[in-house]
Amino acid sequence: MSSSFGQFPLSRLRRLRSTPWMRRLNQETCLLVDDLIQPIFICEGNDTVPIPSMPGIERQPLNLLSNYIFQLYDENIPAIALFPCIPTDKKDLEGSLAYDSNNLICQAVRLIKSQFPDIGIIADVALDPYTSHGHDGLFINGDVDNDQTLEALSKQALALAQAGVDVVAPSDMMDGRIGFIRVALDHAGYSHVAILAYSAKYASSFYGPFRDALGTKGNLSGKDKKSYQMNPANAREAIREAGQDLAQGADMIMVKPGLPYLDIIRNLHQEFSAPIFAYQVSGEYAMIQAAHANGWIDGQAVMLESLLALKRAGTASILTYAALDVARELNRKNYSTQRR
Ligand code: PBG
Repeated sequence: MSSSFGQFPLSRLRRLRSTPWMRRLNQETCLLVDDLIQPIFICEGNDTVPIPSMPGIERQPLNLLSNYIFQLYDENIPAIALFPCIPTDKKDLEGSLAYDSNNLICQAVRLIKSQFPDIGIIADVALDPYTSHGHDGLFINGDVDNDQTLEALSKQALALAQAGVDVVAPSDMMDGRIGFIRVALDHAGYSHVAILAYSAKYASSFYGPFRDALGTKGNLSGKDKKSYQMNPANAREAIREAGQDLAQGADMIMVKPGLPYLDIIRNLHQEFSAPIFAYQVSGEYAMIQAAHANGWIDGQAVMLESLLALKRAGTASILTYAALDVARELNRKNYSTQRR
């Protein structure tokens, strides 16, 4: 058939978009509750503490932690990632509390494991919550010393493993840390503890609200982490970082931040067969919440679309502060709301 405009289109992609059932059948990517990891900030004291730059997220004290974890468990969220908020007077130059087997995180891990043995527990390995200077490693002669930091990190990983953590997630970006930690864990009898490597962790300005949540911003006092976290301009370097981490024994690799770095996720997905995780970081969460609060976007819809985009790029699982909200939404609809 022809018209004055020439041949009618023989291929009409709109046929595949015409009805909800047709869209469901032809959807390539889904967001599932199985993909979600809830990061949790743990604090001292007996009360939850809101984080102004992260609306809807509160630091959780140990006595209320079970209530909170139960909600996640109830929505079938597979895993959590723990971060401590340490009072300033307990921080020191070496971040020595990081490897104290009775620190806040180790206590939280023991508590959660005893009550929720089926939920996976991931814990960060990096010194920044514990150091008075706010850096992820030992700060010596004006810079973070790589090899001395490795010793401290492996002690931290061992304390976490001993407390019962399932996955350690080195977020420090020291060279050689994955192999160093893997050997330390294996020698101590923790070969079952997995490593989720923050392989492509960028020196990003999207971490601001997280540093508020941990109270580490002031410690850094205007200094940055550019001598160890990656330059946002670099994509090829991420392949070298991830390749090294996998060669040293990483089980899973992570890209962080998430949405601004979809190309990195895609590159790593093409290059490696290991699972790739993404961290939708605090700044990404805060931007969506802020725009929603102003009535400028539908925050829930934008959140789901952002997470779906991470899946589409090649992500296996996602750390997102919205995990509980999103899981509730997905479970309420009884199938992925990403089916349009
Ligand atoms: C610390 C760490 C950071 C985040 C996770 N682990 C911050 C940083 O590197 O300064 C950021 C997470 C977020 O912004 O949500 N090593």
